[in-house]
Amino acid sequence: MSLNKAPKNNVFYRNQNWIYPRIAYGKGIYLYGEDGKKYIDACSGSAVANIGHGNEEVARCYEEQVKRIAFTHLSRWTVDVIEKCAEKISEWTPGDLNHVHFVSGGSEATEAAIKMARQYFIERDGKNTTKWKVISKWNSYHGATLGALSMTGDTPRRKIYDPMLLAFPKIPQFYHYRNPWGCKTLEETSIKAAQALEEEILRQGPENVAAFITEPVVGSAAPGAHPEKIYFEMVREICKKYDVLLIVDEVMSGFGRTGMKFGVDYFGVVPDIMTVAKGMSCGYTPIGAAIANGEVFETIMVKGSGNFVHGHTYGGNPLSCAVALCVINILEREGYVENAAKQGEYLMQKLQGLYKYPIVGDIRGKGLMIGVEFVKDRETKEPFDVSENIKGKVTINCLEEGVVVYPGGGSVDGVRGDHFLLAPPLNITKEEVDELYEKLERGIKKTCEQVL
Ligand SMILES: Cc1ncc(COP(=O)(O)O)c(C=O)c1O
Repeated sequence: MSLNKAPKNNVFYRNQNWIYPRIAYGKGIYLYGEDGKKYIDACSGSAVANIGHGNEEVARCYEEQVKRIAFTHLSRWTVDVIEKCAEKISEWTPGDLNHVHFVSGGSEATEAAIKMARQYFIERDGKNTTKWKVISKWNSYHGATLGALSMTGDTPRRKIYDPMLLAFPKIPQFYHYRNPWGCKTLEETSIKAAQALEEEILRQGPENVAAFITEPVVGSAAPGAHPEKIYFEMVREICKKYDVLLIVDEVMSGFGRTGMKFGVDYFGVVPDIMTVAKGMSCGYTPIGAAIANGEVFETIMVKGSGNFVHGHTYGGNPLSCAVALCVINILEREGYVENAAKQGEYLMQKLQGLYKYPIVGDIRGKGLMIGVEFVKDRETKEPFDVSENIKGKVTINCLEEGVVVYPGGGSVDGVRGDHFLLAPPLNITKEEVDELYEKLERGIKKTCEQVL
């Protein structure tokens, strides 16, 4: 039964059980409530507002582009800013990921990527190809639309839609803290997780598998979980061996979030298709992309039919492209990727102090993409029962202290498992990290006192 706490108006909110503070404006890493309360946006919404709130340069760019040309349909026209934005993205992406198919968000990006993979095999091998399956992982998130949700391995988000989803195979995540193989080191987990891909490809039959999709650093489903380099080296080889396309989902980790341009840069491999959104425009406009390498692009668009059978009205609109280009230029000019690496390391050091609270089980991440997982018993890693609502309590206690975290659950068995993601704007300063930590610690201390 709904608690009906959401404001009574015409908005179909996501969660009627939540009291929604009304935000008046944002500046830098802070959000300001209409009631005068100030919050540190320690999750940038959902790892989105990476250059911080209230950027005046973006506002000017927006105004200029609206006055010049806001919308043209990409099926008929091209505009300089669309081309420049794609060029800038290609400069950022590794290897020959140079062909940018614009969409309006993360789910559209992953949907486009799997359709691209399917069409690649059709164009290359003919319409009788049997390659269509996309292998993905448990404890992963790739979006909420039905194709993206079919890849998503997050039970709470899938459950009620299960009959409507595609039967895409799932393998275990490189979620070392709760790895199913009893591995003692991250390297062992990484190897086992990569071997699981080969086993699954063989089980399904390589002739039926079109692609494998993975996040480089896990976002909401097991925040901060990441592998060692060996994982991506093995996965790259396995995909090549069995003629399977490698899709790396950088929707959350891309554009500097992890302290590198892209999460996959840590591992030195180049996927066949990369998906991006969020940090590509840092929340200043809805935009995303599926970025193809030369082989995928040439096969469909040059040697093949030349017509990607996909597209959305707003995909590649000039306004969003101008804004994204402006934002990426700011990220580059201000050195925010390097700052994410530096402040991420500093924040990670500070967070070690949270281990003095017995409910803190694991802290992991890369750059400014860090997950904190809660347990009832640190020795056995037993999670709290859902009825204890730890993620809710932590979130509210942190909010009261003036710090916003991104909570999640279900990472243990699809039901239990409480965690949150920390992903503050990449322009955060050392002093702001100190402030964030102090407030966060008070929120966790209070939660600990309430539940133990
Ligand atoms: C890795 C990843 N892929 C895809 C998505 C879906 O993006 P959107 O919510 O913009 O549809 C998300 C969103 O959190 C994500 O983190």
